[in-house]
Amino acid sequence: MARVSNNMSTETKSAAPKNITSYLQEHRVFKPSKEFSAQAHVKSFAHYKKLWNESVKHPERFWGRTAKQELVWFKPFGKVLQWREPFAKWFVGGKLNVSANCLDRWLGTPTANKAALIWEGEPATDGKPGEERVLTYRQLHREVCRFANVLKRNGIRKGDRVIIYLPMVPEAAIAMLACTRIGAVHSVIFGGFSAQSVADRIQDSGAKMVITADGGYRRGAVVPLKKNVDDALLIKDANGHSLTKTIEKVVVLRRCGNEVHIAEGRDVWWHRELEYVDANCPAEKMDSEANLFILYTSGSTGKPKGILHTTAGYLLGAKLTSKYVFDLRDDDVYWCTADVGWVTGHSYIVYGPLANGATALMYEGAPNWPEPDRFWRIIEKYGVTILYTAPTAIRAFMKWGDQWPKKHNLASLRLLGTVGEPINPEAWMWYHRVIGGGRCPIVDTWWQTETGSIMITPLPGATPTKPGTATLPFFGIHPEVVDDQGNAVPKGSGGKLVVRQPWPSMLRGLWGDPQRYKEVYWSEVKGSYFTGDGCRQDEDGYFWIVGRIDDVLNVAGHRIGTSEVESALVSHPSVAEAAVVGRPDELKGQALVCFVTLKTGQHATPELKVELRNHVGKEIGPVAKPDDVRFAEMLPKTRSGKIMRRLLKQIASGVEIKGDTTTLEDFSVLAKLASDE
Ligand code: PRX
Repeated sequence: MARVSNNMSTETKSAAPKNITSYLQEHRVFKPSKEFSAQAHVKSFAHYKKLWNESVKHPERFWGRTAKQELVWFKPFGKVLQWREPFAKWFVGGKLNVSANCLDRWLGTPTANKAALIWEGEPATDGKPGEERVLTYRQLHREVCRFANVLKRNGIRKGDRVIIYLPMVPEAAIAMLACTRIGAVHSVIFGGFSAQSVADRIQDSGAKMVITADGGYRRGAVVPLKKNVDDALLIKDANGHSLTKTIEKVVVLRRCGNEVHIAEGRDVWWHRELEYVDANCPAEKMDSEANLFILYTSGSTGKPKGILHTTAGYLLGAKLTSKYVFDLRDDDVYWCTADVGWVTGHSYIVYGPLANGATALMYEGAPNWPEPDRFWRIIEKYGVTILYTAPTAIRAFMKWGDQWPKKHNLASLRLLGTVGEPINPEAWMWYHRVIGGGRCPIVDTWWQTETGSIMITPLPGATPTKPGTATLPFFGIHPEVVDDQGNAVPKGSGGKLVVRQPWPSMLRGLWGDPQRYKEVYWSEVKGSYFTGDGCRQDEDGYFWIVGRIDDVLNVAGHRIGTSEVESALVSHPSVAEAAVVGRPDELKGQALVCFVTLKTGQHATPELKVELRNHVGKEIGPVAKPDDVRFAEMLPKTRSGKIMRRLLKQIASGVEIKGDTTTLEDFSVLAKLASDE
């Protein structure tokens, strides 16, 4: 077996791409088995190549044909693509509805009585098993129609923005689909975000409604979601103006039964509202380019970016990739373990699987609650055939030990997937061997909130895989690795990953900020979409992602902007200045290390470290809590006052300081920082 060294290094934006080096050497190749290929949608590598070549040579022909085949239209589209860089319009003039494509189209077919969602609740603290619920397509359709009428009853109209801040319960999918049914634009906020984050997103989106729950279960505790919303609605800016004045209604789902405050006239209970409505709600005829949802994600500077997706193109991307990448068959039980608060949950729990008439499983709780065999227990119980999860989870499973999966019969699994960050070959091999029993292909899928759907991925019946690479582009996608001038670099060299031509599920912009959209994605490399990732192509043309090249960290699969954490830190009264960098972490991929200088008179104590961690948790959410807070008298700066993050990264990783330090203003700072543990 080949020796594998996994030493990935990325550099800051200004230094990229010449310093992006990937030392990953991986020679193992896994071909799809004959049995798998025989029943797959795409049965051979040659067939994939043929289809891909055609799709990028004649993208409009390819996308026009698939959009007609895959989606149900109220009114056919005319032009396939109108491209005025960087603004795309796909399937111009067409009319359709996302919830009708996910639900109504299956009524009157055998799929109507098939399970659309299988939901498993978190086990109770007293050891009782979690609740289970199954919603057939017919039942889900009914619930979505009823809740869509609740939205209308509470003043929501086409184009209005609705915040969804719910735990992982079927009502999260119901609320999303209900919005799409009436043409409202949803913005789902991950349940782990804080009141401040909720307020910021309400303010930016100008939402009229929040849909939340009294609480959500997490490892036996109740997360007070409604209380967080109440707090968010009280937050004011520096001038004393409310951040959330656009909110008119809050719909509250009863989940945990914990006590909540109900503001008369503003807050209504989900179950009470259902008493007033029927299940008759025709789907709105929406324009192909009607706004579908906004999802906030971290950028390298400033506040979170509201990634905007629109109707037809997004749905086509989610549907087509679900079908081919997960090779969906009618009898599959498909499980994506992401939270609906992230794009993976949008595309691969809700829209992609349902548009294909698949059965999707949804689990409310954590993988190690009450014991680390939770996932394997669920797979055995429901006969899950496809599992899609994150490398950070796989590394945690490895750490917890083989005994947990070994307790369960995982023979139903036929395909495995990963997403969110590069998977290290060791984790890939473990996943393959211990979870997949050596028989399941692994699809390592590279994509982003911005791309809407999977971009680089193996097709499981066609593409030979190698541990650690997302392999080759999906149909209609044309990625390339380029240098600073935008020229393709030779195979084997590192560079920036770009996408050369528009694709239907691409973001249409940043909510309310077209200028930032242009700057972030379309100005770095002329004429191409810039992903922010560093990459290398091997001799077979396989893409090896080496991580972000901007100041965005990938912590346990969550994108976190260092500048957001920095501004949370300096909002603490003791902090003068803060710089946040990443250091490699075995479990989480990257860990957050914060260098903090204090205001005069403040003391660097262990208690303050804890307080600052909690403060960031409160400001942004537990996902952004720093792993390490280090106090410093000064931060290393250039003569022009720029913090030298490159040096801080090296200090945080405990490596010897290399590279140019001649611009450093005060050399003594480095020695002091390195000695502070
Ligand atoms: O750096 C890449 C990494 O995650 C980033 C996108 O994060 P987000 O928008 O939160 O979406 C995550 C789920 C799609 C990318 O820019 N990333 C995602 N998938 C992979 C990956 N890095 C390597 N391999 C992957 N399969």
